[in-house]
Amino acid sequence: MSPSLNVLVTGAGGGMCRGINARLAGSGHTIVCVDLDAQSSEAAAQAIRDAGGKAVSFAADVADEAAVGQLHAEVTSTVGPVQALVNAAGILDRKFLADSTAESFRRALDVNLVGPFNLIKAFSPGMIEAGWGRIINIASIAGVTGYPYPSYAASKAGLANLTRSLLEDFWGTGITINSICPGVVDTPMVIQEVRDQVRRRVPTQSIIDPAEIGAMIAFLLTDEARNVNGADLLIDGGATQLFSLFNNHAD
Ligand SMILES: NC(=O)c1ccc[n+]([C@@H]2O[C@H](COP(=O)([O-])OP(=O)(O)OC[C@H]3O[C@@H](n4cnc5c(N)ncnc54)[C@H](O)[C@@H]3O)[C@@H](O)[C@H]2O)c1
Repeated sequence: MSPSLNVLVTGAGGGMCRGINARLAGSGHTIVCVDLDAQSSEAAAQAIRDAGGKAVSFAADVADEAAVGQLHAEVTSTVGPVQALVNAAGILDRKFLADSTAESFRRALDVNLVGPFNLIKAFSPGMIEAGWGRIINIASIAGVTGYPYPSYAASKAGLANLTRSLLEDFWGTGITINSICPGVVDTPMVIQEVRDQVRRRVPTQSIIDPAEIGAMIAFLLTDEARNVNGADLLIDGGATQLFSLFNNHAD
């Protein structure tokens, strides 16, 4: 596969994608930035261009099947086929069960799970045709361990299982599909209390730099990563594997 890919990144205007975009800006790939908000999508693309990379921007609600269909048509006609898809758009609805409604729960599933499904449905046929593709879903350790905000945890667990479940569909197509499950990533929304918890509860005692997610994605885009397939790639400082009743460091 050519070293220069069209890489579509959803949620491109978000905190984590700043690191992903910055890492990919120097890769020679064209980054197709997609976000709900046209301005933040274009700001992300501009930041990539300012860093010497190639980027274009589009606005779409990933949860809206028709909007994703239109996005596919626009991207294909203006940029060409997409060889790699990074599903990073997501929402964290900080609601416990008591405050949740079926509507709020459904919206989280729509964005975090149906969204990636819509993008995969729209863009994977082009990858199958080309005989090569990369699909990377940004899930979360919340989907591995559970989390007090149930709509988020359920949607991310679903996303990781969607990833595994599509291995059969992409059998022999040249497409790999993986999920990345980050722990706490250094984005503006992370409050000081959580930073303190990371120091107490994570073996590396470090919060994750968005660039580290970008580096993992950059690797997954290469041919050397062709046998990394169907994985839940944890980037969590060891937090998820640590759980033990005999852990001396948990408080
Ligand atoms: N920040 C963390 O610590 C962390 C940890 C684990 C996983 N994640 C996941 O990583 C991804 C990025 O997180 P982030 O911290 O950058 O969040 P963020 O809120 O900063 O960015 C999310 C982006 O997605 C966009 N978006 C939301 N709904 C959308 C929709 N319907 N259609 C298109 N775009 C939409 C938002 O406009 C925003 O730009 C999310 O999927 C999140 O669940 C984040």
